[in-house]
Amino acid sequence: MRFTVAIDGPAAAGKGTISKAVAAQFGFAHLDTGLLYRAVGAKVGVGGDPVAVARALVPQDLAVEGLRTPEVAQAASKVAVISEVRAALVAFQRDFARREGGAVLDGRDIGTVICPEAEVKLYITASAEVRATRRWKELCETGITQDYDAVLAEVRERDARDMGRADAPLRPAQDAREIDTSEMSIEAAVAAAVAAVSAAMSAAETATAAMRQLGGEA
Ligand code: CDP
Repeated sequence: MRFTVAIDGPAAAGKGTISKAVAAQFGFAHLDTGLLYRAVGAKVGVGGDPVAVARALVPQDLAVEGLRTPEVAQAASKVAVISEVRAALVAFQRDFARREGGAVLDGRDIGTVICPEAEVKLYITASAEVRATRRWKELCETGITQDYDAVLAEVRERDARDMGRADAPLRPAQDAREIDTSEMSIEAAVAAAVAAVSAAMSAAETATAAMRQLGGEA
């Protein structure tokens, strides 16, 4: 079975938690596509041409330590405006999306550019202040000390760059279901996402059964 769940949205809206929970619930593979851009940004930080780095990226690069820092997030969003960098990462993401057994991909342009045919598209959002609070707590838990105002400024700066770029700007796909998690518990947000995937899977199964029946009757 091939089944793609595309989850987009701005920084710290809850995409990661929701994506992991959906993947676990349905036994799908999960790709955090932000890691691709973070890995390129981190490597460019120590020297190199962003396009050459993106073209040479290997899956092991996504497992290196230190990709979650605010500095790497900024570096990621800077390399993410370069069209050739984005183009170099398309095939890997599309192959992942259509793998056998189902896949969840989260990022900024999954429903709009990478997988416009995804069976489910979700756009997860929340106010900048709520997202900054969540990211600030996450960073504190991982031992990275940051001032809340600096985290909020970082979130806003990245939002502006991600939404304002010419190639694959962050925006909801026309047929995406929007989930605003500003005043929602993470459990409620996960439940809404799981319900949307369940409904789309049932619809896909019904359509497949109808096609089989038509084929059998012909
Ligand atoms: O975890 P967080 O939401 O803060 O960021 P991320 O998903 O790891 O993405 C880091 C940066 O990579 C984003 O700010 C985007 O600029 C870029 N990105 C992108 O352009 N397209 C994607 N599909 C995923 C990430």
